[in-house]
Amino acid sequence: MAEPGKTKFQVDLRRHLRENEVDDNLTHLICEIAEASKYIINSIRTGDLGVAGTSNLYGEQQLALDVLADRILRKRLDHSRVVANIMSEEMDEIIPISPDCEGKYSVAFDPLDGSSLVDVNLAVGTIVSISAGCDLLQAGRHQVAAMYILYGPRTTLVYSTGDGVHEFGMNNLMEYTLLREDIRIEPKGNLYSPGGQRNLYTPGVEAFVSSLEDRGVKLRYSGGFVPDINQVLLKGRGIFFYPHLNGSPKGKLRLLFELNPMAFLVEQAGGAASDGRTRILDLEPDHIHGRSPVFIGSKEDVALAEEYIRKLDGVEPSIVEKKSKKQASSS
Ligand code: AHG
Ligand code: MN
Ligand code: MN
Repeated sequence: MAEPGKTKFQVDLRRHLRENEVDDNLTHLICEIAEASKYIINSIRTGDLGVAGTSNLYGEQQLALDVLADRILRKRLDHSRVVANIMSEEMDEIIPISPDCEGKYSVAFDPLDGSSLVDVNLAVGTIVSISAGCDLLQAGRHQVAAMYILYGPRTTLVYSTGDGVHEFGMNNLMEYTLLREDIRIEPKGNLYSPGGQRNLYTPGVEAFVSSLEDRGVKLRYSGGFVPDINQVLLKGRGIFFYPHLNGSPKGKLRLLFELNPMAFLVEQAGGAASDGRTRILDLEPDHIHGRSPVFIGSKEDVALAEEYIRKLDGVEPSIVEKKSKKQASSS
């Protein structure tokens, strides 16, 4: 979609959004988040790696970087004039920015995912979910855009507004210029990224992993959700999962600002994202910080995981309850 005569590498983020006829306010919002990432890069490179002396509602010690990244994004969104409500991993509740919803957007974000990896110099990222209007507590299929910025050896930005997934790289002028358009994920992968503890895997997940290993699928896991997903996306195949574990049926990752945006991007690239039984984007959030298990990446690999879970882990009690209520009413 680059303009004739311009090589696609000269297409910067704002031009790409314009050429794809993305709504002006949404274009402005995505560009503001991209701008904010430049200050987050600076804080990662130079910032204090210590603790902020505070903790988020998970009781996790907030690193100075988590809080700093959160403040940088919050300020940008606050002054953008196109945002209605925001919430983040570092906030206890939704923060209203503007009372009118018309033409505005609401943003759920993880300002610095994998922040504990910074002090061992591994890649980290910012994850953003964008919905139209004021409602942030809705199923992920209502998102209008999603994006992440990956602070790795190179800084890259990946976004989708529902018309394919596109990757940008930060150049020496700190501009994001187009690297790849319409990224696609093949149905079957050759790498897997297994989160959580293997000794806590359920029989279904354990059998799924063994089937991958029997197929010679390689293990690639960095411990950072953004680089691990980016690897599946940019290699064009593979599966990431952070499953339900014995003792933690909801796994670890948060639906609103980690799973929904990544599920939006991966589905836009032709992949799939499930909690092991249900499509991630169809999950109705019951709490702004709700968690869910996740299996995300190549469609056939996600379907295989679901099959093992269905066969060996049975159906969730909640589904059984629903069935028995339904059976009771129909009998
Ligand atoms: P965050 O740093 O925002 O809390 O997220 C960390 C997440 C995610 O990056 C990754 O997939 C997962 O933690 C790794 O968890 P384990 O260390 O339990 O594997
Ligand atoms: Mn996170
Ligand atoms: Mn985080």
